Amino acid sequence: MLQRFLPLAVKIRKRHPGVFYFLARIAKRFFGQTLGVFPRILGNEVEAVTEILRSSQWNMAYGRGLVHERLEAEFSEFVGTKHAVAVGSGGMALQMSLRALGLKPGDEAIHQVDTCSATAMAVMNAGVTPIFADISEQTFMLDCADVQRRIGGQTKALIATHMWGNPEDVSKLRQIAHDNGLRFVEDTCLALGAIAAGKPAGCWGDVGVFSFGCLKPIQTGEGGMIVTNDEALAKELRSLRHWGDRTIEFGVRDVTQLAWNGRMSEILAGIAREQLRGYPGHLEELRARVADFRSAYADCPGFSMVLGATDSVPSSAFTQVVLRLEESAFGLSKRELMDFLGQSGVPHWHANFELINTLSFFRGDAWRDWILRGDIDRVAANNSGSFPAAERVYAQSGLGLSKSNFLSDGNRRHLDTVIQSLSRKSGS
Ligand SMILES: Cc1ncc(COP(=O)(O)O)c(C=O)c1O
Repeated sequence: MLQRFLPLAVKIRKRHPGVFYFLARIAKRFFGQTLGVFPRILGNEVEAVTEILRSSQWNMAYGRGLVHERLEAEFSEFVGTKHAVAVGSGGMALQMSLRALGLKPGDEAIHQVDTCSATAMAVMNAGVTPIFADISEQTFMLDCADVQRRIGGQTKALIATHMWGNPEDVSKLRQIAHDNGLRFVEDTCLALGAIAAGKPAGCWGDVGVFSFGCLKPIQTGEGGMIVTNDEALAKELRSLRHWGDRTIEFGVRDVTQLAWNGRMSEILAGIAREQLRGYPGHLEELRARVADFRSAYADCPGFSMVLGATDSVPSSAFTQVVLRLEESAFGLSKRELMDFLGQSGVPHWHANFELINTLSFFRGDAWRDWILRGDIDRVAANNSGSFPAAERVYAQSGLGLSKSNFLSDGNRRHLDTVIQSLSRKSGS
């Protein structure tokens, strides 16, 4: 049924978007599990929200035993760190972390050039300068040699992104950070539940940051989390999320840092607790379907699965299933393949984001108004530099199959049918 329905849905969305979104709302409500839509209810979210709305405490505020505190305890246990600090978004988690770790204007943080632009924005909103590094074509994440080349006198932090749930090479990157006196930040926004070097992603850094926003492993509308083993840092972070006020954490009514409203609402904390409770089962089901897909197409020429530093299905959180294409073996270009998948109703995207330095803000001069100090010529050279591996991955070899393809047997069967017709088309 889906084979006929999904291509038709694509046509309706193009021609009559209003009708499409009306029907999609109904379909999600009544056939959500069959259609494998995401986000989805993973526990008792509705009841949890109702209970909080009936209480008098909607905001994260003074008191003990609040919902966000229970969430923080459960989350830190899940990731295996001593502390967790609930915040309003993943970007806020990043910028608060850099400030709490002591980075100041003029300091630099290195991250991969083709992660979500939110990372570079958060770095800059913390007053810090992003320095972009190229990626490895094996993992689609940081190229360690390129990172080392780009470390300069003002570099103070290294941000490793576990792209789309695949684990980064935390052992190597942590060592590089340690050897060069850099703070190590794990951007785990897309990777809750991933396993890096045998432990949960996020637990290796001075901090690990998470997002509960759109497309993320668990979702609460918006929201985020910072994890750390450093108690003093956790205290500083909790103060930073209240505009820097030190009354609750330090017993002094004072402000010592430039800060933000980084709070998470109790209502969202209630949703997050239920999402987290149901997440292991959800992830297990997802991984089983991806493992089956991987073995079914193991010998298919022209594409292979990219799983990050460990090459193991049970180590990834699969926020997208990332594929590497070899156009010559496959018989179709990436663009042709993406068009075909789009027309066939298979949700997909690029493996990595467009290179951040190609976005107008960084390509032109707009960034210059916001970098307050530091070696501006070095930053300009980085922004206008070339990142050949990331360029190739974006233009030719990196494809992401959306997680929803693996959230129901029907969606998975539809994917099979499309790949089979594709093989006939490409002759592979
Ligand atoms: C890798 C990565 N880091 C950070 C963020 C920022 O998270 P948020 O949108 O919750 O601020 C995102 C969001 O899309 C992301 O994909």
